[in-house]
Amino acid sequence: MNTIKAIKNAIVCLVLLPRFLVAAVMFWLLDFLCIRKRVFFRMEQEGDAIDPPLCISDSNRLFSLESLRAVWHGHKLDFLKAAHLGHGAPNTEVGVVQRNADIADSVLVYIEEAHPSDGWISTDAPYQIPKHRCLEDRLNAAQLMHLEAPGCLVVVDSMENSSNTAYGAYFDRLYILQEGKVVYQGGRGPEGYRISELRDWLNHYRERLEKSRNLVIHV
Ligand SMILES: *[C@@H]1O[C@H](CO)[C@@H](O)[C@H](O)[C@H]1NC(C)=O
Repeated sequence: MNTIKAIKNAIVCLVLLPRFLVAAVMFWLLDFLCIRKRVFFRMEQEGDAIDPPLCISDSNRLFSLESLRAVWHGHKLDFLKAAHLGHGAPNTEVGVVQRNADIADSVLVYIEEAHPSDGWISTDAPYQIPKHRCLEDRLNAAQLMHLEAPGCLVVVDSMENSSNTAYGAYFDRLYILQEGKVVYQGGRGPEGYRISELRDWLNHYRERLEKSRNLVIHV
């Protein structure tokens, strides 16, 4: 059993190594402020105004042991996630902490900290939160999310991190689920976190709904 696990681990490492190395080189380059400014300027030009901009202040170092560890963790979660577009949506355990739009319910699942104050620190983070040691730590930190997103149902991931693992959610990620199926899977955040994509999906969905309603009226 352990040998199979070790072989599986080794295969995962081999598959992930190239993209991890690319990310590591990117981070190393982004620590040169002139390169960082250029890259972020270009991203700003290309981005949609509704998406939160990627901002990293000059004092924030990207290339460190903690950051590389976090990137590796994120790649691994993404690779091993159970959630796939068009496939069944994993039903993971969450803890309850609501906003009802007319066509969709939204829920914010707070997972492990991307930038814990005792890990890969971000000087840009609005709050300095250490790694969650127990569910209570996580619930307390989630209260802050509640303040940031009033009216939105906030739940927390279990301490086994089952939602994060199943959905490859780290650092942050958007999903739309319908009748137990993943119908929209956003990219890995922060660079793939696009609220504009979510908005477009919902707009198309609304159009389809309205068309089918009109059909009924005409019949
Ligand atoms: C879940 O995530 C936390 C970080 O918030 C980590 O300390 C813990 O080891 C993880 N739990 C498991 C079972 O991997």
